[in-house]
Amino acid sequence: MSILKDYLKKALNGEFLATQKYSKFAEIAKSEGFDNITYLFKALTAAEKIHINNHKNALDEDYTPESEEFTSGTTVENVKDAMDAELWENKKMYPSFIKEIKKDKKNPMQKVAQLSFEWARDVEYTHYKALKLALKFIEQGKDLDCSEIYICKVCGNLIFTEPTKICPICGHDPAFYYKVKRD
Ligand SMILES: [Fe+2]
Ligand SMILES: [Fe+2]
Repeated sequence: MSILKDYLKKALNGEFLATQKYSKFAEIAKSEGFDNITYLFKALTAAEKIHINNHKNALDEDYTPESEEFTSGTTVENVKDAMDAELWENKKMYPSFIKEIKKDKKNPMQKVAQLSFEWARDVEYTHYKALKLALKFIEQGKDLDCSEIYICKVCGNLIFTEPTKICPICGHDPAFYYKVKRD
């Protein structure tokens, strides 16, 4: 298998695991009465699915990501777990994957894969910051203060206010954002 396809599959497995975890974490947050943190986990699930689609386009072959076991806890534990995962993807996983796939220069899909990884790397940091804000509220015994969440459908960037400017991650027009539904 080419280096490129190998790393795209690794990234797809990681993003798929994130969607599974965040769907479960949303259910737990709901059961604990954190409606806005439930909403945040739903939005994060949608954003990770955008990374999956982008990576799949770069892979250009049928691939079903492998499921992995994961654990869950209380909402405060789940938010911390998600923060660690997002930061690890931003600081370690994607930077190392980008370094590796740069070696596969002859592959015509190399640039597409690199862009997909770079967008995901940068977006994971926006996810980390959103979760960090949620943690601040939980630690004060409150739910996250947010009424709306918007996601860039090109890269998965997440913002709490109606977009007025181009996406800082992928450079697309604000029209590419959509408001995430609560249910
Ligand atoms: Fe993320
Ligand atoms: Fe974007």
